[in-house]
Amino acid sequence: MKLLALLPAASAVLLSEAPAGTPGQVHLAYTSDPTSMSITWTARPDTPCTKPVVRYGDSDDVVAASTLGYATTNDTIFTATMTGLDGDAVCYQVGCSETDQFSDSETFFPLPTDGDSFAFIAFGDMGVSTAAKSTVANMAADLAKNEYDFVLHNGDISYARGDDGIWDEWFDLLQPAMQSTPYMVTPGNHDLLHSDSGGEDGIPYSLRFAMPDTTLGDGLGDERLYYSWVHRFVTFINLSTDSDYAEGTDQYEWLEKTLASVDREKTPWVIVSGHKNLYCSSTYGSNDRSSTTRGDAGDLTKELEPLFEKYGVDIYIGAHIHAYERTYPVAKNATAVDKDCVEEGGEDGVDVYRNGEGVVYFVLGMSGAGHLGEEWPDPEWSAVHAEEYGYAALSFANRTSVKLEFVANGGEEGQGDGPLVRDSVWVVKDQRE
Ligand SMILES: *[C@@H]1O[C@H](CO)[C@@H](O)[C@H](O)[C@H]1NC(C)=O
Ligand SMILES: *[C@@H]1O[C@H](CO)[C@@H](O)[C@H](O)[C@H]1NC(C)=O
Ligand SMILES: *[C@@H]1O[C@H](CO)[C@@H](O)[C@H](O)[C@H]1NC(C)=O
Ligand SMILES: *[C@@H]1O[C@H](CO)[C@@H](O)[C@H](O)[C@H]1NC(C)=O
Repeated sequence: MKLLALLPAASAVLLSEAPAGTPGQVHLAYTSDPTSMSITWTARPDTPCTKPVVRYGDSDDVVAASTLGYATTNDTIFTATMTGLDGDAVCYQVGCSETDQFSDSETFFPLPTDGDSFAFIAFGDMGVSTAAKSTVANMAADLAKNEYDFVLHNGDISYARGDDGIWDEWFDLLQPAMQSTPYMVTPGNHDLLHSDSGGEDGIPYSLRFAMPDTTLGDGLGDERLYYSWVHRFVTFINLSTDSDYAEGTDQYEWLEKTLASVDREKTPWVIVSGHKNLYCSSTYGSNDRSSTTRGDAGDLTKELEPLFEKYGVDIYIGAHIHAYERTYPVAKNATAVDKDCVEEGGEDGVDVYRNGEGVVYFVLGMSGAGHLGEEWPDPEWSAVHAEEYGYAALSFANRTSVKLEFVANGGEEGQGDGPLVRDSVWVVKDQRE
């Protein structure tokens, strides 16, 4: 039984009468240290705060926050790192010590150090559409069961495109999820590329989210956009597919070094994510595999697939195309497709990819941004695609088996009669050499 370390409740009462300076947009993220958690929030400009703090755990654990930057609405963005966390639930409040204005108490579970089963939610391409709100509502209900360690949002986050009010709206929408579950992000073209981002160039993205190891480089160079991180027995690698990644670039060299240094005894699984896709059968725009402009820095498959194969990447999670797709294990620019590894209807009626040869690619761009109305020519390597809204849940049953479920909102505009599992598959690796 996990015990909550409760904080004095006094300041929660003040909150209701104190709109000015009230903390908002509170969100958590992992750091590279499993006993720490980073937290970021904003405060409106009407009450300046010179002593922003987080109170957590026992009420004498207080950590000072620093200013990450300013949103263009002049809200101040504060960030801090809570340290020394163990496996128990942690209660916290963020706020201002000199004005005694604090957020309501919230709770999260830091990363437990053991356990061979865990789950996380993944998707990309959200925004603030009606469909996005429906996805968020379904996801929030699912998160409330406390079965997920974290959420991964794989690029194209708010679609603010230079309108800071939309970032604020997006954070308000997501705060109930992000204040109790770490929310990990990677940048997409609408966060990063000059014209797709309405001139944002990744600046709001970098100021509003604090991700691990993103201070690798100095200032706002692209080194801030990709990182890797170990979660239990999985190494996660997040790429920035709208930065340069061709052979010889910094990101390519970093990726090769990172893949080469993975200890497969400790983390048998390697999951790579990036906003754009190596494999997606949609004909939309320049998505086709024969296009050299599929990633903005060249043919993603040509550049990165050889590295994925050399180092045995298990799963790639992409987004960008506003739909769901899963491939069979595939390699060598689709000249090798492993359908022999498929066991139809495993123990729970769900197909199993057992020790497949190649990488399993998922397109998870279906969380809310409008469908693109493209063609899906159904190549041999594509197992399933669906133009529906929703999110994906990835659940490791143990160190050899992970199940991915696409939880669709249902309904044309994504406001169906409740979430339903539209597709699922087990990826099993019980014979690693
Ligand atoms: C931010 O503050 C500056 C300086 O006080 C002011 O000129 C500007 O209008 C403010 N911007 C917004 C969006 O409130
Ligand atoms: C990206 O990294 C974060 C942790 O830094 C992790 O939560 C997330 O799962 C990663 N994404 C993927 C799917 O690799
Ligand atoms: C990969 O396959 C596509 C589609 O068949 C082809 O157009 C492209 O030239 C191939 N790329 C490489 C690097 O061989
Ligand atoms: C791992 O979980 C899967 C799915 O429940 C199960 O079939 C398999 O036997 C388990 N493997 C081990 C080694 O426990």
